[in-house]
Formats: sequence, structure tokens, C-alpha cells
Amino acid sequence: MKLPEEMETVKKIGVAIIGLGTVGSGVVKIINEKGEKIKKRYGFQLEILDCSDLERKRFEDLKESGYECGCFYTDAYKMVENTKADIVVELIGGFEPAKSLILKAIENGKSVVTANKEVVSRSGEEIFDLALEKGVDFFFEAAVGGGIPIIRPLKEMLVANKFSYVAGIVNGTTNYILTRMSKEGLDFNSALLKAQELGYAEPDPRADIEGDDAQAKIAILSSIAFNSRVLKDDVYKEGITKITEKDIKYAYELGYCIKLIAYARQENEGIHAFVRPALIPMNHPLAAVDDVYNAIYLSGDNCGELMFFGEGAGSLAAGSSVVADILQASFAILKGCKGQETKCSCFEKVKLLPMDAFSSKYYLNLKAADQPGVLAKIAGCFGEAGVSIASVIQKESHGETANIIFMTHKTTEMRMRHAIELIKSLEVVESIENSLVVLDEEVL
Ligand code: HSE
Repeated sequence: MKLPEEMETVKKIGVAIIGLGTVGSGVVKIINEKGEKIKKRYGFQLEILDCSDLERKRFEDLKESGYECGCFYTDAYKMVENTKADIVVELIGGFEPAKSLILKAIENGKSVVTANKEVVSRSGEEIFDLALEKGVDFFFEAAVGGGIPIIRPLKEMLVANKFSYVAGIVNGTTNYILTRMSKEGLDFNSALLKAQELGYAEPDPRADIEGDDAQAKIAILSSIAFNSRVLKDDVYKEGITKITEKDIKYAYELGYCIKLIAYARQENEGIHAFVRPALIPMNHPLAAVDDVYNAIYLSGDNCGELMFFGEGAGSLAAGSSVVADILQASFAILKGCKGQETKCSCFEKVKLLPMDAFSSKYYLNLKAADQPGVLAKIAGCFGEAGVSIASVIQKESHGETANIIFMTHKTTEMRMRHAIELIKSLEVVESIENSLVVLDEEVL
């Protein structure tokens, strides 16, 4: 029998968690449940020393279920100030106070792990600079794609590539809504209600359905893919609220599906980055990504085309990515090379191009008088704007009016907007129902 002093001491890495909500509670569970595996594989133990939340009940519930989560604080600042942990994990989301807590933890010499897309996509540079100065690490794998490993693969595994574009379905809520509209013929509001009933959509769903969530995620992805900082607020965005079940049906008849696509492309002149509902070919791998699933599709000069697919949100899926980051930060601490992983990958300064300069095909759904000469007038507007029509289909007639669907050849967004302005001003045109970008084989 070994005496206590002869017993091998297992190294411990202390962790402090801010926020015991969906992701935070998942992280607590995973650290507790996978502790033994981590110890056997790496020879050290993760120990949750402290955690904080506005609600003590979440902590009590976790303790009651047998999960060890250290000391509890309601005041996150106090926890960050007092904790002896090596790593602080920020999981409250939103911009503030999350950003200040992250900066405070870094100031105090802690490596930081977060799932916070808002903070990374708006203040990444400031945080990276401070982390570098303080010699600590800053990781954020769960900020994009939840349980899908994409940040580190893009930063490290795929570093030997130049990417022409990154395209993703990075918001599960909107993907669920569009899938239900497509598969069950539901209208937008019914599909949203269903998403809310199932807990996929928030009671206030604006950040998802208006594209803000995906906007932050593509800002992060494009910054890494093109090594040049793209800020969230500079990314053009449109949400899905104007998509109707008719658009989905018409797109399907033309061989496309409608997805909320987060897209970034590097061209000689600069970077295009946007989030918008788009028609994509039914045979593209992204078209098969349904319900709440996420996927990120990349094209690199050496690796070719790749798609990362999986659960984009959820307690354990996002928790899995957070724990991977905690381990990464732990390795650096144990090897004595803390802070060396945190070199910001944005070493270029490439201009972000305006949406107007983007070239693609377009879909236009309008309602116009069903009488002789109407089509010629509309075609004249396209011609005047320099947009070439690829196909036109007249759909249902409603007495005196009819839905007409146009598909254009490749043109710029600026020309397309000009064409729409001219068409809108025609007396025979009742309404522009929808205008959507078509991302097909030339750009996707
Ligand atoms: N609200 C997001 C979604 C998950 O619906 O995918 C968190 O980023």
C-alpha cells in the first residue's frame, strides 16, 4: 500500500463558469461525466472551482443531480475577481456584461473560453490584443456551429488553404422554420409558432429570424477564412420574415430550395459577406441540411470542397465544443506555453465590398395585371437596367392579376435593384412579392 505522500498526485486545472443556462449546465455535466476519461487520456483533472448565475436554483438543480460545480456566486464580477481557477468560461451570451467579464478575467491572467458570438464578432481584436499582452489564451469554438468543430479546423487544420468562399446554414431556428414551410406547406407565422412550441425559437425570435445571429457567425467565419477582420455590423443581412410558402413552392419547381445562407467570398477587389435567404440548387449538399441542423461548406485551393454538418445549438452539443476549448487551454497551461495559441489570425486588411457589387443570378416574384403587353413592359425595365432574363413563368391568376416569376442571368445586385425600382413604377405592376439572390454552381 502506498503512503499518502507516495501517491501520484494528479494535476488539476481549475475552471470557473459564468452562466449556468443551456450551455453552462451542459458544460458542468460533461466535465463531471467525462472527468475520468480526461484523466486517463491526458493525466490531469478538470475541477470546477466556481460558478455564477443570476438564479441560484440552476446551481441547486445541478448539485441535486449529483454534479460537482464548486462555489456559487450570484455576482459574476465578484467570482472573476476572487476565483483561483486557471480558466474562466463565459457562457452568459449577449454583448455586455459578457465583454467586460471576459476582459476582467484576462486582466487577471486567466485563459478564457466563450461561446459568445456577439463579443467575438464585435470586439474580437480588443480581446485578442489584451490576451496577447497578458499571455493567456482565448478560445471560442462554440460561438459558431454549436457542436460542430469549425473554428479550430479552419484556423489550424486548414491553414494550408486559400478559400474562395465559405457558405453556411448557421442558424437552426430559421432552418427549422424554412424546413417546415417547405415540407408541410406552413406559412411563416405557423412555422415560427411551431418552432417556439418546441423550444427552438426564443419567445422573442428577432435575433434569429432577422438574421442577426447568422450575421455574427459569418463575420467570425470570414475573418478566419480570409485572415482579415470582418465586423458583425458591416455584414449585410436580411432575415426570413418575407419568405412565403409560395416562394418556397416556386423555387422548388425551378429546382431550388430556399435557405438562410451566411456567405462570404474573397475576390480580387475585396470580401463579400452577407446573410440572406437564397435559392440554392436542390442537389447542393447544403440543400439537404434540414430542421435545426447547421452546416458550413468551404472551398479551399488544396483541400477542395468540405462540409461540416451537425447540431448548431443545444446544451450538450455546444458544451462539447466548450469543453474541447477548456482542454486546449489546459494543455497550454500544463506545458507552460499559455498564450501562444492566441495569435489573432487576421493579419491582412482586406476591404469589405458593398452588397451592390455582388454578382449573382436573381429570382423575382411579382404580381401584375394579367393583360396584353404587361410582360413586354416588365422585360423593358430589365433591359433598361442591363439585366438579362433567363426564364419567366406565369403562375396563378387571381382574376385580373397574376404572379409572374423571373429568373435572371448573372448580374450585379446594383443592376437588379435598379430593375426592381423601374418595375415597381409600372402601373401594371401591383406588387413586388419577393426578390431573392440565387446562389448556384458559379458562386456556391
Ligand atoms: N439561436 C441559434 C440558432 C443558436 O437558432 O441556431 C445559438 O447560436
